[in-house]
Amino acid sequence: AHAASTPVEPLAVVVERRVAAAMGGASPLLRRSNRADFQANGVLPLAKAERRQPAALAAEIAARIPVDDVVLVCRPSGPGFLNITVSDGALLRNLAARAADARLGVAPKSAPGVTVIDYSSPNIAKEMHVGHIRSTVIGDALARVLAFTGETVVRRNHLGDWGTSFGMLIQQLAETTGLAGDMQVPELSDVYQQARARFDADPDFAERARLRVVALQSGDTETVAAWQRLVAASRRYFARVYAELGVLLEDADALGESHYNPMLAQVCADLERAGIAVPSDGALCVFPSDGADGPDGSHGPDGAGGAAGPEGLGSAPLIVRKGDGGYGYAATDLAAVRDRVDGLGATRLLYLVDARQARHFAQVFDTARRAGWLPPEVTASHLAFGTILGPDGRPFKTRSGDTVRLQDLIDQAVAAARTVVAEKNPDLAPEELEARSRQVGIGALKYADLSNNRVKDYVFDPARMVSLTGDTATYLQYAHARMRSVLRKAGVTGVTAVAGVPAAGASVALEPAERALGLLLDEFGAAVDAVAESCEPHRLCSYLSALASAFSTFWEQCPVLKAEDGAVRDTRLLLCALSARTLAQGMDLLGIEAPERL
Ligand code: ARG
Repeated sequence: AHAASTPVEPLAVVVERRVAAAMGGASPLLRRSNRADFQANGVLPLAKAERRQPAALAAEIAARIPVDDVVLVCRPSGPGFLNITVSDGALLRNLAARAADARLGVAPKSAPGVTVIDYSSPNIAKEMHVGHIRSTVIGDALARVLAFTGETVVRRNHLGDWGTSFGMLIQQLAETTGLAGDMQVPELSDVYQQARARFDADPDFAERARLRVVALQSGDTETVAAWQRLVAASRRYFARVYAELGVLLEDADALGESHYNPMLAQVCADLERAGIAVPSDGALCVFPSDGADGPDGSHGPDGAGGAAGPEGLGSAPLIVRKGDGGYGYAATDLAAVRDRVDGLGATRLLYLVDARQARHFAQVFDTARRAGWLPPEVTASHLAFGTILGPDGRPFKTRSGDTVRLQDLIDQAVAAARTVVAEKNPDLAPEELEARSRQVGIGALKYADLSNNRVKDYVFDPARMVSLTGDTATYLQYAHARMRSVLRKAGVTGVTAVAGVPAAGASVALEPAERALGLLLDEFGAAVDAVAESCEPHRLCSYLSALASAFSTFWEQCPVLKAEDGAVRDTRLLLCALSARTLAQGMDLLGIEAPERL
């Protein structure tokens, strides 16, 4: 798709360059404005630096900017601002060029890197729950956005498939249904609960479970085969959830913690040889680097929860090998960093994991930096997120106080969507109703998650998330369906330019609502870039929501199919077509479907 695309320079970039030239290269600090199209705020700091009177300098600069077929007016305003209006022709040419391009004229990044995104990462044999949705949905949106910018994206589903709890689970299976029996999630997660309860209550069982762990670790054939079947059953279950949610994760993206087992001894040996890890009470530990000690200066291994160091390292050490010789979560993550940087050539590592693991990642990154496994030019970020809250404003739990299953969240969102879809279309065939309710419900679930600032908590409210009028996916889907309906009625079926534009369009005088919509359409690439840089998908949500409402104003004020003048009609159809594609593309980057009808 890249090869066939011709990037279109955003008008903001064109204007910025012209104003900068008139300012001797100083930054114009250009912003969109509601007084003109753009406002340059850079004259004030320039006047200060040059000890000039700002209003006079603004007038001087304004006079230096050539008025041509792009810049229609540049006026000094207020204490030293510049107000700039672009010509209708320039805007229309820009929009027509975007409409003619497969990427909507959005240029790919000039120097793309390799980003590894660690997301979803649920645990084997357990059902996915409310805690997995944010990682899965946000990670998936970032994977899509970064790929669109031209970045090479490697998705990593770091499945929790290793650890002592599998001894317990396999032993429970061996003593109940047998190891050859049918294995399925969610049924397995009940077995898991039973095993845990028995482990805590029955010391003999606990001992047999421990022996099972040893059997698993030493490669006992029967035990390993049982573990493999557990993993396979879980992967099938995850694949079903991902397919239902429409996330990109595939089986090939899943590398369980066990994948790194063969590398762990080397990780420990290298850290110890470099003096980064030291033996402590039989374990092998990495103590926080200088300046990160707790206030008492203590380095005790049980100082967990101690005061955070300057970089959130805390005072407790990172345990890379436990006292019993087993390797844990930290060693695995260190091996994974090495693998991702050396093996995959990553230039950026992203981890979509619960905020409670902040210190774990701070310590893993710090250790990997000291070991030289994470060179300075490679960035590593733990992208933490807030908690999903229940109607009572507390972390979301079931009535009985249990964790809410991810499947229940999906079902509730789809049920709420069914009400809205059925109300709008009382005569829909049952299969069609079901299909649309899924598109609406799942879109709503994702948008509710993505549109909130990533680090904030939010309340799970199915009725609100499918509202046709709020800041919801449903509102976007509705706007999109309306755009598509106009295009169908006008007989515009193709995805690219509308006949008659730009040749005729170039001479059309635009209405304010058309200009507002057009200028927003020109900003799509900037909105995508902002997400790629900040890893904050809510910025794209805000953009799409603004686009849908600009469209709605345009729709109220500018008749499309009834426009008398052919060139006006073509221009408006162009705006509809480009709005529909921009909205659909933006929603796709969020993993949200844009159905033809709602
Ligand atoms: N399986 C872990 C959990 O459920 C999350 C793993 C996150 N990724 C990682 N590389 N540590 O808490």
